[in-house]
Amino acid sequence: MEKAITVLPGDGIGPEVMKGTLRVLKAIESRFHHRFTVTEMPIGGNAIDETGNPLPPETIEQCKKSDAVLLGAVGGPKWDGMEQRPEQGLLRIRKELNVFANVRPVKAFGPLADIAPLKPALLENVDLVFVRELTGGIYFGQPKERKGSDEAVDTLYYHRKEIERVVKKAFVLAASRKKKLTSVDKANVLESSKLWREVVDETAKHYPDVKVEHMLVDNAAMQLVRNPAQFDVIVTENMFGDILSDEASMITGSLGMLASASLSEEGPGLYEPVHGSAPDIAGTNAANPLGMILSAAMMLRHSFHMNDEADAIELAVQEVLNANFRTGDISSNKDKVSTTDQVVEQLIYR
Ligand code: NAI
Ligand code: MG
Repeated sequence: MEKAITVLPGDGIGPEVMKGTLRVLKAIESRFHHRFTVTEMPIGGNAIDETGNPLPPETIEQCKKSDAVLLGAVGGPKWDGMEQRPEQGLLRIRKELNVFANVRPVKAFGPLADIAPLKPALLENVDLVFVRELTGGIYFGQPKERKGSDEAVDTLYYHRKEIERVVKKAFVLAASRKKKLTSVDKANVLESSKLWREVVDETAKHYPDVKVEHMLVDNAAMQLVRNPAQFDVIVTENMFGDILSDEASMITGSLGMLASASLSEEGPGLYEPVHGSAPDIAGTNAANPLGMILSAAMMLRHSFHMNDEADAIELAVQEVLNANFRTGDISSNKDKVSTTDQVVEQLIYR
């Protein structure tokens, strides 16, 4: 198959984990006889440096005409306090591609005792997926302003249609999995959450096989730590999903392990690791590349319907972890820490 991929490496460890990911995709290309045409474009801090704009129009154009988009991460202290922020590039590309559903799988890879030495049993059978609303809610609502030195306002706004489309995606996913959907909200205090709950209940009528439960966000935060194996698909609004999915990332041992897919109704999906640009370790060949690489596997599966290819990557990841090639963030043995490049080498070799 021939596919066009736009690659946005970004800043910090973004280009480092992207480089390894492209090597893995090359290996997939030759093993399965595909052709991936890769076009790199600037976004974030490096785009500000080059063009004065965190999301140049050429980048948007290139993304829109490709089959899928891979993104590393943006941001860093270099651009702190500037009027143009790298993160604006990220929020805008999500809007431009209209990727309203952010899908984040959470699974414990590798020996559980390494991840949770005190309670390894807690992680057995954890296999859950977040579906986070990504283009609405308090990150985008207007008014959003600073009023003088003492007041500031953000607005949490949702239209029924914005909720319907993401909730539907979550039901479809749950129906293809363990058939359980947990909708997370704060309906005891927030009007937007009451509307959210209403939409979930209405949509549920079309998916009689899927068992639905509503959970308040504070309870969900607790349940994820207490018994994460109880969940299958979790659907929630933008900010709750942002926070809960970072919390849940620790189930995998590190933020550096988590992949995500951001999907629209039609048009290219945007695939990116959950972590940021990690300025503290950038340039040291220490970044865990697996979140980015597993995001590329999601791209193969969701956008290109290449299931065998995605399986091959996920299997190789499991094998590399079992063989104890681990970057520092997931290594329990500080004497045997692999570099980013070594982990990639090991993956390709399998
Ligand atoms: P971060 O995710 O970059 O880093 C948090 C901690 O996790 C750091 O200690 C980092 O070293 C570690 N970490 C993250 N990814 C890792 C990996 N692949 N391997 C090993 N360790 C890893 O979040 P932070 O520090 O809050 O933000 C740093 C910058 O990244 C900021 O400018 C922020 O705005 C930006 N950011 C960008 C995101 C994106 O592009 N999607 C998402 C989150 C933050
Ligand atoms: Mg976040």
